[in-house]
Amino acid sequence: MSATDINGSAKAVRAFPKGFLWGAATAAYQIEGAATADGRGPSIWDTFSHTPGKVRGGDTGDIACDFYNRSAGDLDLIRGLGMAAFRFSISWSRVQPTGSGPINQAGLDFYRRLVDELHARDIAPAITLYHWDLPQALEDAGGWANRATAERFAQFAEIMAEAIGDACGDWMTLNEPQVCANNGYRLGVHAPGHTDDALAAAATHHLLLGHGLAVKRLRSLVPEARIGLALNLNTVRAHDAFSEQTALVLDAEQNRIFRDPILRGHYPDAARPHMLPPVSLVHDGDMELINAPLDFIGVNYYSPFHIRRSDPSQEHTDETPVAGRDDIVMFRPKDLPTTNMGWLVEPDGLYDMLMTVTAELPQGTRLYITENGCAAEDYVDPDGVVNDVERIAFMRGHLDAAWRAIQDGAPLDGYFQWSLLDNFEWAWGYQKRFGLVFTDYGTQRRIPKRSAGLFQHIARTNELPLEWNGDGAKLLVDAI
Ligand code: FCB
Repeated sequence: MSATDINGSAKAVRAFPKGFLWGAATAAYQIEGAATADGRGPSIWDTFSHTPGKVRGGDTGDIACDFYNRSAGDLDLIRGLGMAAFRFSISWSRVQPTGSGPINQAGLDFYRRLVDELHARDIAPAITLYHWDLPQALEDAGGWANRATAERFAQFAEIMAEAIGDACGDWMTLNEPQVCANNGYRLGVHAPGHTDDALAAAATHHLLLGHGLAVKRLRSLVPEARIGLALNLNTVRAHDAFSEQTALVLDAEQNRIFRDPILRGHYPDAARPHMLPPVSLVHDGDMELINAPLDFIGVNYYSPFHIRRSDPSQEHTDETPVAGRDDIVMFRPKDLPTTNMGWLVEPDGLYDMLMTVTAELPQGTRLYITENGCAAEDYVDPDGVVNDVERIAFMRGHLDAAWRAIQDGAPLDGYFQWSLLDNFEWAWGYQKRFGLVFTDYGTQRRIPKRSAGLFQHIARTNELPLEWNGDGAKLLVDAI
């Protein structure tokens, strides 16, 4: 395949299907700031980030990218980048400060304005209802370990459907529920910071139930909406026969624990019992609700897991034990680079995951890549340029993998880059930069990185160029 590039010469490209949706993804707590403005109530992430020792450097989302006050400029940026879609989440405690009871009209108005401003710029909103920021009052009542939270979430979905349902095409109930349950309730490294297997197993079921109840309400209130959710999925690779069974366990606990109930109506057999909700929590009818048809599955893909047999008598500092075993470890194969999160870079992992999920999708269900991206050690150089070569390589590799999956039958309708802007990266605070656009936090100045130029070119042409001239990227960035 060939096309004319921005410099007028012919070059090879990967052409994406007509209408393929190019966008960027964000989350409320990571970008909005304005933590106490206009009646917003506290969420578990306000509490967690204000607890000493929980977030690197004591960073909080109090100000973040100040998107709450700067959305108009940021939407111009999105438009300038040629994106047709913007994925953002709703801060539940901005809309309903205690997670139940009275609505905060000012919060609702913010999102109403946001979707109107997106439409005015021809950008399709892709809404995530829950990206990890539970109202603190609901956590005080037991959080996701409490079944009542699922019902509260469905009511919140209803509030949002009534307020902005007319304006939105794509709705995601939850973002990465596995991370909520595991990091928030089992490992304690995310809000609300519990370290309790039983709470995590209960949260797993109630997150799924909340999803199912919300889908039902959204279907009846916004029949024309496309509804799905975003799942974090990691391709698991065993390097020897000894580790194969453990790879199935890891895949079950990491990927299938949410995907199987949603796509197949049951929990995965291979997960260890303490990871699964006890039967007493699974009421009649729950699994049917959870298994209701979706329009799309959102794949958040960052990295694969590689595991192998290890010798417990040897110390290897770069190995992590897996699934309660001291003889099987996660490791970094020599040929795979890592990002500065320490995550392995392997675009084939994305290809394989897209093909695996494709084989499991019911007829008519589509796929989005709802997150993909990398953190890099970005900085503004003396020319004022952020030359993020790592991100450019990452993006090219993963888009090539996505393109190959489409050729091989994956029903992939769009790609959302994580993220539009550098933002509050949860327990890492502001140290980790994932944006196409550099955020100078002290001044809130936005500086499009070189990768933004490449993204803009791809979004405008609907093609991934196989050769990329960095200078061309700079020109495009300057033109934003
Ligand atoms: C995902 C989250 C997102 C962001 C990226 C780097 O797990 O959904 O908010 O933190 O990782």
